[in-house]
Amino acid sequence: MKNIKFAMPSLKDARMRKSKIVPTIRYTVEEKYKTLGLNKSYAIFTYGCQGNEADSEVMAGILEEIGYEKSSDPMNADLVILNTCAIRENAEQRIWGVLGQLKGKKRENPDMLIGIAGCMPQEENTTNKILESYGFIDLVIGTHNKNHLPKLLFEAYMTKAKVVEVISSEGEILEDAPKVRESHHKAWVNIMYGCDEFCTYCIVPYTRGKERSRAKEDILKEVEELVSLGYKEITLLGQNVNAYGKDLEVKYTFGDLLYDLDKTGIQRIRYTTSHPRDLDELTMQAMHDCKSVMPHLHLPVQSGDNEILRRMNRKYTYEVYMEKINQLRKLVPDLALTTDIIVGFPNETKEQFANTLKLVQNAKFEGAYTFIYSKREGTPAASMPDDITEEEKHKRLEELNIYVNQGYLEGHKRFLNQVVEVLVDGPSKNGEGMMCGYTPHLKLTHFKCEDLSLIGQIVKIKITEAKTWFMIGELCE
Ligand code: SAH
Ligand code: SF4
Ligand code: F3S
Repeated sequence: MKNIKFAMPSLKDARMRKSKIVPTIRYTVEEKYKTLGLNKSYAIFTYGCQGNEADSEVMAGILEEIGYEKSSDPMNADLVILNTCAIRENAEQRIWGVLGQLKGKKRENPDMLIGIAGCMPQEENTTNKILESYGFIDLVIGTHNKNHLPKLLFEAYMTKAKVVEVISSEGEILEDAPKVRESHHKAWVNIMYGCDEFCTYCIVPYTRGKERSRAKEDILKEVEELVSLGYKEITLLGQNVNAYGKDLEVKYTFGDLLYDLDKTGIQRIRYTTSHPRDLDELTMQAMHDCKSVMPHLHLPVQSGDNEILRRMNRKYTYEVYMEKINQLRKLVPDLALTTDIIVGFPNETKEQFANTLKLVQNAKFEGAYTFIYSKREGTPAASMPDDITEEEKHKRLEELNIYVNQGYLEGHKRFLNQVVEVLVDGPSKNGEGMMCGYTPHLKLTHFKCEDLSLIGQIVKIKITEAKTWFMIGELCE
């Protein structure tokens, strides 16, 4: 198979940060691509973070605009795109597995077009591997050029070649792209792209490029539209939302944005992810002042040990982290705090791990995503010596999870016998005749009800049972 390489990823370019302001571009599609997808079906499989979910909604929007229809049989669609994640080795393994299955499908249906998008192609070694050994993949596209999808598909159909376009320098901010949102009551709203933190273990600054903030006017316009469409909840997205605005010419920060969004009439505002160093007073004050900003904060800590935090390049200490959350809890006393933790960072000692356990007990997390450190090629931590055995890392993860799960349970117990407001998502998988949704504190709640008209509504539920992973309650009349 012939290759057409519009652009190849480069680790060197991905590392670079130029201080220039990133331009905003408005999405348009050329006339000649407008019927490209007529009578064809598409499917997008999404892996990784909410940023990827939001990107998939844009890709779906672009595809539907040029005629594709969403497939009811995703593994047999005419066009299958995997929107991938490179955060950890096991995330990537899963995706290689799905690609293996798709290879078989393509043998049965040679006209099927297979594309790989998202963070994996941004890695030099992945794209090289695809070019060398994955002949059945037709399209390789990265995180910076979704707007080129019609052009790249056109090339793939016309030339029957493998088309590659992966750009490693920052990428413009794309506005006005069509979107097909998954939900009719909850929406992702990107407020910024990229990451400039360079935590030493993390691949994201290389796969997503420089931090760049959307203009406030574009964000407000999007949220006002969502309100007029009846949306109840938005989640503001960015790898480090607290850095929002730092790259803008005007002085306008994340806290300012929360105050302005509160006035749009949207009922619930969430945001993810926060970086402890950049969580500032105005943001905390906004969490107190703005009724629509929900009393939940996901604040990844990664480790409770100062030496590990330093080697991770997290730029805060255990003490600073505790100080920030205590300060916030003064303003939002019922705050639900969740976090991310990595165990087995290179050469983490038993004592250093014990400091993480201590932190978990002191910080009163009500949930955490916990991970075993995974080596990512090209990151600084990948070349740090590491003497911890796999067995030891698994043991640490298990031990940590015991404490973390206790926190989940405590976080649910405190709502026993209280009436909470639940935004109804739909029928629950927790049993016949049950529905589910989330409370302001982001607690998953199941309740007996079969009235589908409540989907997308906020209802009052009295909590009767608290389990580790969810709460159960009764609908108040
Ligand atoms: N920008 C967000 C999170 C991005 S990735 C933040 O800074 O909080 C989500 C989580 O994956 C991280 O918080 C971290 O806990 C974990 N993670 C990232 N790189 C990892 C790696 N190489 N190995 C294990 N976990 C990792
Ligand atoms: Fe990765 Fe750190 Fe950026 Fe989060 S803040 S995306 S962990 S580099
Ligand atoms: Fe994964 Fe990329 Fe998100 S690596 S976590 S999909 S930014």
